[in-house]
Amino acid sequence: MNTENVVALVTGANRGLGRRFAEQLVARGAKVYAGARRPETVDLPAVIPVQLDITDPESIRRAAELASDVTVVINNAGVSTRSTLLDGALDDIRLEMETHYFGTLQVIRAFAPIIERNGASSGGGAILNVLSVLSWAHPPTSGAYAAAKAAGWALTDAVRTELAPKGIHVAALHVGYMDTDMVPYVPADQKTDPGVVAKLALDGLFAGENEILGDALTRTVKAQLSAPPR
Ligand SMILES: NC(=O)c1ccc[n+]([C@@H]2O[C@H](COP(=O)([O-])OP(=O)(O)OC[C@H]3O[C@@H](n4cnc5c(N)ncnc54)[C@H](OP(=O)(O)O)[C@@H]3O)[C@@H](O)[C@H]2O)c1
Repeated sequence: MNTENVVALVTGANRGLGRRFAEQLVARGAKVYAGARRPETVDLPAVIPVQLDITDPESIRRAAELASDVTVVINNAGVSTRSTLLDGALDDIRLEMETHYFGTLQVIRAFAPIIERNGASSGGGAILNVLSVLSWAHPPTSGAYAAAKAAGWALTDAVRTELAPKGIHVAALHVGYMDTDMVPYVPADQKTDPGVVAKLALDGLFAGENEILGDALTRTVKAQLSAPPR
């Protein structure tokens, strides 16, 4: 894909990893819609802020109407309630699924026809779903988050096969701790720079990779998936 022809929508682009995606897509020559629940918090000058709450179908519909020239969607928006599955509030557990699974799915359903239409005349379209090393490693301390990211992994694989005949490439980014607002409790030396991860993910997406592994921990965990059960 020639990134200068890309028209991208990034969800949760007002801070953290999403802000880095938006910034770097602009630097690569793309036109960028910066989706945010509160678009007034988007502080990048060269992007088009768009109101977008991925758990609100009406907000998604409006965003799809406005950003009707999109060829690439980065499903980045996410939450971490750190809920355990047995004792955590069910509302928090549902929020994780509503955001990472149903929210991402609803954005894909709204934008896939748009990407298909625009991608046909501009060298193809793509979707990147931001997942986690916790799609594969499931500590009980983040049970709700891990279950939602695992669901996001299955969604990504199924949708990749569905959208391939429509000329839309679907990729996943799996990554461990990054230095964003999501994990203030993690020591700095255990977190990756989100700017480094965004670059790696965009390089992988535009190279046509299906699964992008963002750090050493994620590569180790992925390699262990085929190990015999303990
Ligand atoms: N940080 C990590 O260690 C880590 C590791 C692996 C994967 N990830 C994943 O990376 C992605 C980005 O997270 P981050 O680390 O950048 O976290 P962050 O700094 O907390 O940013 C989260 C972003 O998602 C947005 N968001 C949350 N719910 C939303 C909704 N319903 N609709 C639209 N936007 C919504 C937030 O918007 P508001 O400003 O309105 O809240 C914010 O822009 C997430 O999918 C996360 O699960 C993070």
